[in-house]
Amino acid sequence: MTDTQPLRLILVEDVPQVAQYVRGLLAAQARLQLVDVVTDGAKALGQIQQLRPDVVIVDALLQGRVKGLRLVEQIHQGGLGIPVIVLTVPQNPVERDPELGIAAVLGMPFSGFELVNVVVSVHNASLAANQSRRSALHVVFAPKGGVGKTTLAFNLAVAMGQLGTSTALVDGSLQYGDLRSLLKVPVDAPSILDLPTDRIGEADLQDVLWRDPSGIDILLAPPRVEYAEMVTPRDMEKVLSMLRRVYGTVVVDMAATIGDVSLALFDAADVILQVVTYDSTTIRNTLAVAEAFRAIGYPPGKVQYVVNRVDSSGGISPDDLVRVLGRAPEHSVVSDGRLVVQCNNEGIPFVLANPGAQISQDVVRIASALVGGGRPVAAGSRR
Ligand SMILES: Nc1ncnc2c1ncn2[C@@H]1O[C@H](COP(=O)(O)OP(=O)(O)O)[C@@H](O)[C@H]1O
Ligand SMILES: [Mg+2]
Repeated sequence: MTDTQPLRLILVEDVPQVAQYVRGLLAAQARLQLVDVVTDGAKALGQIQQLRPDVVIVDALLQGRVKGLRLVEQIHQGGLGIPVIVLTVPQNPVERDPELGIAAVLGMPFSGFELVNVVVSVHNASLAANQSRRSALHVVFAPKGGVGKTTLAFNLAVAMGQLGTSTALVDGSLQYGDLRSLLKVPVDAPSILDLPTDRIGEADLQDVLWRDPSGIDILLAPPRVEYAEMVTPRDMEKVLSMLRRVYGTVVVDMAATIGDVSLALFDAADVILQVVTYDSTTIRNTLAVAEAFRAIGYPPGKVQYVVNRVDSSGGISPDDLVRVLGRAPEHSVVSDGRLVVQCNNEGIPFVLANPGAQISQDVVRIASALVGGGRPVAAGSRR
C-alpha cells in the first residue's frame, strides 16, 4: 500500500454517540478511511474477514452476545494479522497486551490527532512484524517417481514443526495427491480446489487445511486426477503467499513432471531440495533438470541435493555421483525399509514414531539446516 492511500479502518461500536464522535474526528482528515461501523460483536469477525481493514477498533464495553474483549480475542485467534486497538473509558481501564491481540488502547476522550497517530503506529508496527516473520518455502522434487519425495517431504515438514517453526505442507503432486494416500485422508477432505477463486482470505485457507495429528497443517491436492488442471499457476502463487504470511515454513511435495504450476513453485522456492538415488535413470533426469534450472537462471545454490537410501548404491558409486552432479550432495538419508514401510502404511511420520533411528536423525539434520540455515530470516535473499 502506498502512502497516498488511506488506511482502512473498521470500528466495532454499539453506542451511537461514540460512533458519531469517531466519525466526526475522522471527517477532518484523509489519512484514515472508516470503511464500516459494526454494532453487533457477533457479526464483526465476518465483516472483518470480508472487508480486510488495515486496523480494527473495538469498544471494550461492547455489549451483546460477543462482548468487546471476547471479540478482540476472536480476531487475534483468527490469525488474520490485523491489529486491534481497544477503545475504553477511564472507569474501565484496559492494558495494552500484544499477546492477547490488544495492540494499543485508546482512552476516551481522545483527539483526532491521537486517533490518527495510534492507528498509523499500530499499522506500521504490524507491517514490520509481518515482514520480519518472512517465511521460507522449500520444495521437495525429483524428476522421477518412487525416489522418496513424498516420504521425505512429509517427515521433513514434521521435523521442522518439531523444531518450533509453524509448518504447512502442500501436496504439489496435483494429479495423484500422494499425501492423500499416505495420510489416508477421507475422499471428501477439502483440497486446494475448495478455496474461492477470486479473493482468498486467510480464514478460507484455515477452513481447507488438513490438520494432521503430527502437528502440521496440510493443503491437499484435488481428490481426482482430472481436477488437477483446474489449479492454475496464479492460484498456486496466491495460495503460497497466503500460507507464507501465516506459517514460518512451507514445504511442498512436488510432482515428478514439470509444468506451469511446478515452475511457479520452483520460482518461489528458497530451496529446491532435489532427491537423488543411486540409479541411472534418476541421475540422467537429474542432469537434464540441472541444465533446465541453469537455463532458467536459478543460482546453483538454490538446488540442494539429498541422496536418499544412500547406503544402498545400485551399480553407481558415490564418486560417480559426485562427478555427475559436479559437487558433493549436501544431504543424505539412509535406507530403512522396515520403519518407512510400517510408518507409511499407518500414515505416521517416522521422525516421531522412532526419533532415534538413523533415518530420523538424517531427516532432522536436513530440517535443522533448512530452518536455521545460518542466514537471517528477514534478509529476503534468494539462495
Ligand atoms: N529412505 C528410505 N528407506 C526405505 N524406503 C524408502 C525410503 N525412502 C522412500 N522409501 C520407499 O520408497 C517408496 C517411494 O517413496 P515415495 O515417498 O512415495 O516416493 P515419491 O514421492 O518420490 O514417488 C515408498 O514405498 C517408500 O516407503
Ligand atoms: Mg510422491
